[in-house]
Formats: sequence, structure tokens, C-alpha cells
Amino acid sequence: MAYILILNGPNLNLLGRREPEIYGSQTLSDINDSLKSAFPEAGLRFAQHNGEGELIEALHTAGFDPDCRGIAFNAGAFTHYSYAIADAIAAIPAPVVEVHMSNVHAREEFRHTSVIAPVCRGTIAGFGANSYHLAVAAILAL
Ligand code: DQA
Repeated sequence: MAYILILNGPNLNLLGRREPEIYGSQTLSDINDSLKSAFPEAGLRFAQHNGEGELIEALHTAGFDPDCRGIAFNAGAFTHYSYAIADAIAAIPAPVVEVHMSNVHAREEFRHTSVIAPVCRGTIAGFGANSYHLAVAAILAL
């Protein structure tokens, strides 16, 4: 059965409590519920890990699964420096869409660099929780 994986990295388990002026008041499970209602046929699956190794394992597992249509991935701060995650994305055949809730280019300098962007299919940033919806729509349209 085809599915799309919504994969979240470090600190995104704190959504709702974490810097709400930047990330809003919805929790990760609120966002995941809204995705399920918006895309009932997409077979959405959800995972969140704070650790780099667990994220890499999740990318390997879904990324080589022929049933996985794509991965909407918010790598959190790993976006800006994890070559190990970039290598994992480059290694897998499933398309990965880079997701950020905030407009990383309007924030601190270190957030302007994404080491994963070159190996992702595309990037969506700056639309709050809607960034995830746009990423799922992009994967469904591939
Ligand atoms: C983020 C932006 C990153 O810079 C930050 O480290 C995050 C969240 C976003 O969704 O806007 O953890 O990926």
C-alpha cells in the first residue's frame, strides 16, 4: 500500500510549547491530524526522532521501500550541518521534500545554509504548519 512519510527531526516534538511566536501553537500531533484529514487517501505515516542516527535509519527504511512515494522531511537544525543526513538522502531512491515551518532565510545566518537542499527534490519553507501540507501536495503531484 503506497504511503508518504512525514518525518520530523530534533525539537519538533516540542511544537506548541517551543517558541510559539516562531512555530505557532499547534502541537506536532495537531499538525499530523490535520494532514490526515486533508489527505485521507495518501496513506500518511508519521515519525519524529531527536537523534541523527534514528533519522538516518528512518530514511533508509522508507527510502528503499517501493511503497514509499516520498518523504516530507523537517530535519530541524540538522538541515544546516548534517552531512550524514545529506548522504542518507542522496543514497535513497524515494524523493525527499525539505520542509521548514519558518522562513529560514529571514532568520539567523546559520539557518541560511542547508546542506540537504542539493539532495532533496525541492524545499518548502516559511508557511508554518501549512509547509507540511504543501510538501505532501508536491509529493502527490510528482
Ligand atoms: C526549522 C528551522 C530550523 O532552522 C530549526 O533548527 C528547526 C525548525 C523549521 O521548521 O522552521 O528546528 O526546520
